[in-house]
Amino acid sequence: MRSRPIPLCWRSWLSAVCLALPAYLVADVALAQEAAPGAVLPAMAERVTACTACHGKEGRATADGYYPRIAGKPETYLFNQLQNFRDGRRQYPMMNYLLANLSDDYLHKIAGFFANEHPPYSPPVPPRVDSATLERGRLLVTDGIKERRIPACAACHGAALTGVQPAIPGLLGLPRDYINAQLGAWRNGVRKARQPDCMATIAHALTPEDINAASSWLAAQPVPPSSAPAASLPASLPMACGSMTQSSGAGR
Ligand code: HEC
Ligand code: HEC
Repeated sequence: MRSRPIPLCWRSWLSAVCLALPAYLVADVALAQEAAPGAVLPAMAERVTACTACHGKEGRATADGYYPRIAGKPETYLFNQLQNFRDGRRQYPMMNYLLANLSDDYLHKIAGFFANEHPPYSPPVPPRVDSATLERGRLLVTDGIKERRIPACAACHGAALTGVQPAIPGLLGLPRDYINAQLGAWRNGVRKARQPDCMATIAHALTPEDINAASSWLAAQPVPPSSAPAASLPASLPMACGSMTQSSGAGR
């Protein structure tokens, strides 16, 4: 077992986790078992109970609320994020804590497990903004803003917005608050991806109104039945993204 104190209940919206504390502690022990050499490990689905407490059964979070779905995202994208939390490029205390002692090898296994889960998505939450905002969001996502050199989100996240292998996540099926928070985190430097960090450049070019429009439109879209990430993009990326190239630190 690890000796660090368990960081709980920093924020009021985490209170559901506090209530689930006993189950969570047992699950945390199961997750940590990779550290014991030669131990007979429970099945992966059992070991990731600590994760599904927040991310939902089979990694399927709902579109309402904050927790992002992790099921079915590109494997390298998930691996990059697990590494980002472990190594401090993304901040969320419970995630940083859970992953702190895990090896790259184990992070690959966890990423592979969730990448291969494909539970259906829940229907989108009806938008709470006016139609002009939604239209502004749609245009930004599908066309970008040429005068301001902002590429269409779809140019990288895929025409169907379901992501692209190996490392670009889909933008549908995510809660609006989560999308807003991620773009805000890139703007204020709390979330970082490998350099060149294209999302940091894009987030800085967006105004708060752009972000609200894009997240409102995205969160109002249903996820198509074939929600798998595209195998590749039809054209090259409009901007270089470091997440698409595995550095030596992220290698297998
Ligand atoms: C206490 C609740 C909680 C637990 C437990 C938890 N997560 Fe998370 N996780 C979150 C939140 C909240 C975020 C988004 C944080 C942010 O704002 O960047 C997140 C983000 C992620 C992301 C990035 C998602 C994306 O689309 O970028 C991955 C991957 C992830 N978690 C995997 C896991 C795994 C694997 C476990 C188990 C080892 C786990 N999480 C346990 C709450 C949790
Ligand atoms: C040049 C390519 C590119 C463009 C254009 C782009 N993105 Fe991204 N986006 C990425 C990459 C690469 C990642 C993964 C970054 C990482 O590894 O953390 C990402 C990640 C994200 C995430 C995090 C998703 C999650 O599950 O945490 C959000 C939100 C996002 N992009 C929104 C947008 C929006 C909105 C637009 C349009 C205004 C946009 N992106 C345009 C490449 C791009």
